[in-house]
Amino acid sequence: MSNSCSCHAQLTPDHLAEVDRILESYRGQPGSLIQVLHKAQNVIGYLPREVQVKVAEKLDVPLTRVYGVVSFYSLFTTKPKGRHKIHVCAGTACYVRGANQLLNKLEEDLQVKPGDTTEDGKFSVDVVRCLGACGLGPVVTVDDDVYGRVHTGKLADILSKYDKE
Ligand code: FES
Repeated sequence: MSNSCSCHAQLTPDHLAEVDRILESYRGQPGSLIQVLHKAQNVIGYLPREVQVKVAEKLDVPLTRVYGVVSFYSLFTTKPKGRHKIHVCAGTACYVRGANQLLNKLEEDLQVKPGDTTEDGKFSVDVVRCLGACGLGPVVTVDDDVYGRVHTGKLADILSKYDKE
């Protein structure tokens, strides 16, 4: 399974120009690394290596520091995400109620592992730790929609809503 589908999240010259504009506004402020990365990810959808290198150079911080921040914070991603983002909660309450079976089913149906995006760029799947709705576990979110007490038989129905788009 490819995790670098360029069909939906190609890095374009417009993206890079926008990142340049962001960097220009933070020039000489190494303490602004996280804000810059956040804004760059908002523009592109993820943080490819090329952008991380550019950020390191322009903010004059070591590239290893940029890599470190990007890999430490779960809000950052180095892979393009799908048009619809599926999050499966694997916190304790959801885990004991079958979150793993949901992940296996998603892998089987969509041919995608957690952290990756489907070939057609429609869905990405990620694991999260406790969404704060433990009583509803296992919990799955798709974009801003929250689904509780999800079981493997319900997944296809849920995803079909987004399939049509
Ligand atoms: S453990 Fe899943 S919502 Fe809390």
